[in-house]
Amino acid sequence: MNLKIKLTILFQNLKKYWELFLFLLATYCSIEVPLWILFRFPLTGILFYLEISISIIFFISLILSFKTSYYKNGNLITDKKTIFINYLRSWFVLDTLSIFPFEILFEMNLIPEELTFLSIFRFLRIIKLIDIDNFKLSWGMHEFSNTSFLRLFFLIYWIALFAHWTACGWIRIGGGEQNVEATRKYIRAIYWSITTLGTIGYGDITPVTNEQTLYAVSVMIIGAGVYGYLVGNIASILSNRDLVKTQFIEKMQKITTFMTYKNLPKDLQTNIFAYYDYVWKNRKGFDENLILAELPPSVRERVGLYLNKPLVKKVPFLADASEDLISKIVLNLRPIVYMEGDYIFRKGDEGDNLYFISKGIVEIVSEDGITIYGTLTDGSFFGEIALIKDSPRTASIRAKVFCDLYYIDKTTFKILVKGYPKFEAHINELVEERMKRLKH
Ligand code: CMP
Repeated sequence: MNLKIKLTILFQNLKKYWELFLFLLATYCSIEVPLWILFRFPLTGILFYLEISISIIFFISLILSFKTSYYKNGNLITDKKTIFINYLRSWFVLDTLSIFPFEILFEMNLIPEELTFLSIFRFLRIIKLIDIDNFKLSWGMHEFSNTSFLRLFFLIYWIALFAHWTACGWIRIGGGEQNVEATRKYIRAIYWSITTLGTIGYGDITPVTNEQTLYAVSVMIIGAGVYGYLVGNIASILSNRDLVKTQFIEKMQKITTFMTYKNLPKDLQTNIFAYYDYVWKNRKGFDENLILAELPPSVRERVGLYLNKPLVKKVPFLADASEDLISKIVLNLRPIVYMEGDYIFRKGDEGDNLYFISKGIVEIVSEDGITIYGTLTDGSFFGEIALIKDSPRTASIRAKVFCDLYYIDKTTFKILVKGYPKFEAHINELVEERMKRLKH
């Protein structure tokens, strides 16, 4: 790995941790800022240094934002001038106001009391949470990759923050117990906000003033939504936990119903179950081709090569081909499974496909299936004679066990190989050699 790639990886990792750090700081601010505005606790000692550090860190983040590339309509914007103007137009003003340490200036009596309202700018730090998407992206947690655990985590995260803000609002309008110390006040308020948002509402803390009643009604209405959202999300997270398996089970249930309805013989049913059991264990029920077909050509080629790497490595026949030809062949390979005793083709059939064995054992047998000429296993190929010679199959091929094969059709293979005379000559040699052996 050259130095440039190493540095890029290092930089990406640093960026990841930097964004995680900013996310944690923004979370801290979203909890602390409303509390400070309510209780105005003194920012001394460790809190003082923490406030200063947060302002410095957000300032560094502001400077870096002028240089950080971003995504627009799926394109990565790296042009320095565009990045600069974009940041200046979008977040710059809000970021600048939010990083300004007004609270420290108040603490040090550097700002007159009349300007206390300026502390409202501290609220702007909460806006940093919108940047959460950046953090999620750098950690590879984009919308569709959300695992159940992450979805659950962010669901609880947002609801907890919302409950906190609701509780702070409740204290602000004088809800709950008065004349008690701040901790008690907050604990009672968060209890009220969670019971109200969760639609439990024990009724032990009730609104008194009009303002409080209206606030409580609004929280109840939002609460009904939040509750529904929470229950719906948890249900969907649980049912999607293993979506692929659930879909496979559903498919199996449909097949079972069909087999019962059509009264299929028991041994046939056993065969079908054995096939699906194999497909599930070996491929998790995925149809590679369907997934590949949806991808853009450049990505498809790379994914195809990656997926078939183990096969290409196993097949010495392909190892002799150029990288270019391999990628073309690989992209045209189709997977197919044969069960024990299945004939892949019979002697005398027309040669339409060339097969590669990914896993399993096949037998080369006579027309009546009694004489076994030989066996082929992982990494071997067969069916090339009829393909190259345009002649009927020289022998029958039977699966000895469950076989995971890949095949390429005759026309495609011939067209592909035509452009590579060296490889074509090599196959012809192999064909002659096998035919000689066959004659013996
Ligand atoms: P084809 O004639 O198309 O169909 C039968 C296949 O069996 C044949 O191609 C070869 O791929 C394969 N085959 C026949 N004889 C041998 C052998 N001696 N060794 C390996 N494979 C063979």
